[in-house]
Amino acid sequence: MTTTHNSPKRRRKSTGQPGIFVSGARAHQLCLFDRKNETSPRTLITRLARSYFSAKSNTGVQFVLGFRPELWRQVLPRDAPADIHGYDEDIRGRRGLNFPGTQHDAVLWVLGERPDLVFDFAMTTVRASRDAARLVEATQGWSYHQNRDLIDFVDGTENPSSREIPDVTLIPPHRRGTGGTVLLVQKWRHKSDMWRDLPTGDQEKVIGRTKSDDRELTPLPVSAHVSRTNQETFGKILRRNFPYGTVLDHGTMFVGFCAEQAVLERMLRNMLGESDGIPDALTHYSRPKTGGYYFVPPPGALAKILRR
Ligand code: HEM
Repeated sequence: MTTTHNSPKRRRKSTGQPGIFVSGARAHQLCLFDRKNETSPRTLITRLARSYFSAKSNTGVQFVLGFRPELWRQVLPRDAPADIHGYDEDIRGRRGLNFPGTQHDAVLWVLGERPDLVFDFAMTTVRASRDAARLVEATQGWSYHQNRDLIDFVDGTENPSSREIPDVTLIPPHRRGTGGTVLLVQKWRHKSDMWRDLPTGDQEKVIGRTKSDDRELTPLPVSAHVSRTNQETFGKILRRNFPYGTVLDHGTMFVGFCAEQAVLERMLRNMLGESDGIPDALTHYSRPKTGGYYFVPPPGALAKILRR
């Protein structure tokens, strides 16, 4: 697990939650919560924020805490971007292709080197916040052959460099929500039998990169995943995807951060072929089962909630 510290924009980087800057973690627990009936948005945020600060003494574990954008805005309107929203409706493409919106109130992503410590921390947080937060989904993840996803391709190659990460992910100064970031979480279930029956050359055309040495194909098929999400067209994002599941039911937990929600949205719509009718070839072999947008506030804003 690596934490990047070499950014020339240290000041800006340090305002974001440190968990965003960690790459290569081997163990993950991603928990989604809803507010319990009588609980106010403020109480939910306070309970989870307390856990955030208690994590500091817990070595070997990092975590990222985010909230439904509307819920955060209700509690700290001055520290909330005006223009971000939850994933409340499905995004539909042609021929039944659908990216479902399954928004929840909060997300806690715990990551680290040791599954036992990651589990312990997630469990402690769930218990400490249980009067306010109902755990509705929890996904365990691990690393697969270093930095490959469960379709066995290297994942994360075209991520921004550690120097670029703050610019790509953190809302800049003088805007509401400075130091915060937009997080998109989608659980993609793989159709592994279909995928593994596909010859390697065809798999490479689906992704747009070679499997063994991770080079971009030329020419690049227009339906290839890296064509549909081309960052030169849409803008840059940071991906921290991780594999989840068992041999029976498994896939990729897409974890993507960006300072601009519109960049993530445009990518999703282009994967559905919204503008030209060409869907991402990857959607033949994997489909998202869930989707949620969360605002990940900087630690300073979480501290403000606790002070009040
Ligand atoms: C099953 C789900 C997914 C899998 C297995 C997957 C896998 C991959 C792989 C293997 C690459 C090529 C290597 C790399 O640059 O990382 C890639 C690139 C990329 N993916 Fe995905 N991905 C998934 C979903 C998504 C989603 C939902 C988005 C956007 C919302 C996305 C955005 C990107 C971007 C921006 C790139 C780099 C494109 C470029 O070359 O500029 N991916 N992905």
